[in-house]
Amino acid sequence: MHPPVKRIGILTSGGDAPGMNAAIRAVVRTAHTCGIESIGIRRGYHGLIRSDLMPLSTLDVSGITGLGGTILYTARSAAFLEEDGQRRAADVCRKNDIEALVTIGGDGTFRGALDLSRHGIPVIGIPATIDNDIACTSYTIGYDTACNTAIQMTDKLHDTMLSHERCSVVEVMGHRSGYLALYVGIAVGATAILIPEREVDLEYDVLSRIRTGRARGRTHFMIIVAEGAASAADIGKAIADSTGIETRVSVLGHVQRGGSPNVRDRVTASRMGYHAVQTLLAGHKNCVICAQGDHCTEIDIEAALQMRKGLDMDIYAISDVLISGA
Ligand code: F6P
Repeated sequence: MHPPVKRIGILTSGGDAPGMNAAIRAVVRTAHTCGIESIGIRRGYHGLIRSDLMPLSTLDVSGITGLGGTILYTARSAAFLEEDGQRRAADVCRKNDIEALVTIGGDGTFRGALDLSRHGIPVIGIPATIDNDIACTSYTIGYDTACNTAIQMTDKLHDTMLSHERCSVVEVMGHRSGYLALYVGIAVGATAILIPEREVDLEYDVLSRIRTGRARGRTHFMIIVAEGAASAADIGKAIADSTGIETRVSVLGHVQRGGSPNVRDRVTASRMGYHAVQTLLAGHKNCVICAQGDHCTEIDIEAALQMRKGLDMDIYAISDVLISGA
């Protein structure tokens, strides 16, 4: 039986996430097994407009599952936001016989894919972002590794804060989502976790908890701030001014995006990459691959982009009990 497409393109776009390479490998290997040729597009939509293409053989993707970042590079493209850029990108696909495109990234990547689909190029999205903020999927590639990286860094900060009897304010990434901050905060036993999904009440959420902790004999404190909730620098200054505790601020920054993906990200990426090609083979197009428990499914890309992901408030409530009981 002939596959419905003979050649597919693969690109990574937006912020990189650990596990993107495992997804690329899974797409290339699955496609090869099904008689489909893979073309890598370097530097996301920016590279697509410029026809920055490279054939990807099964050998080219050998040994990359454990590599952080993306072998295809990534970019954010201003030109692709314009109709003209999208038309040029679609023309590049047609000129190079790219009959469908697998796009790996976050919601910006999927918005780009939807635009491209409107210019006649079939697309399949694979969710990969450390923010875990894609509503249609319970999990996005890269989140677990990023959480573990942030936890490792914060544990190190804990040691020195304990020794000096200080307060540490740690800012983690997550864009407008509090997922990273919430999981990291719970995992490190934070004194307070500030997330964008809940308005920050400095007195109630932070200062009163530090005072109570102090009264109970605690000598060091750890405050986790999601970048979308507040500025760690402002929170740190307010704590020092109000409580007199020596406070240090650390913005973990892009280190959270790097590093070798852990088992969850490697396996999820492999599963999603496989499923992306199977979805194309089944004749579906213009959808996003979603994790549902240990399984994958797919959802129309336009519907996926209209969904809004709320934070798991049950786990937030648990974190609140654990903090209050400190
Ligand atoms: O979406 C991933 C992410 O790392 C966000 O958490 C963060 O807000 C943003 O990307 C940073 O983007 P840039 O790498 O362009 O500074």
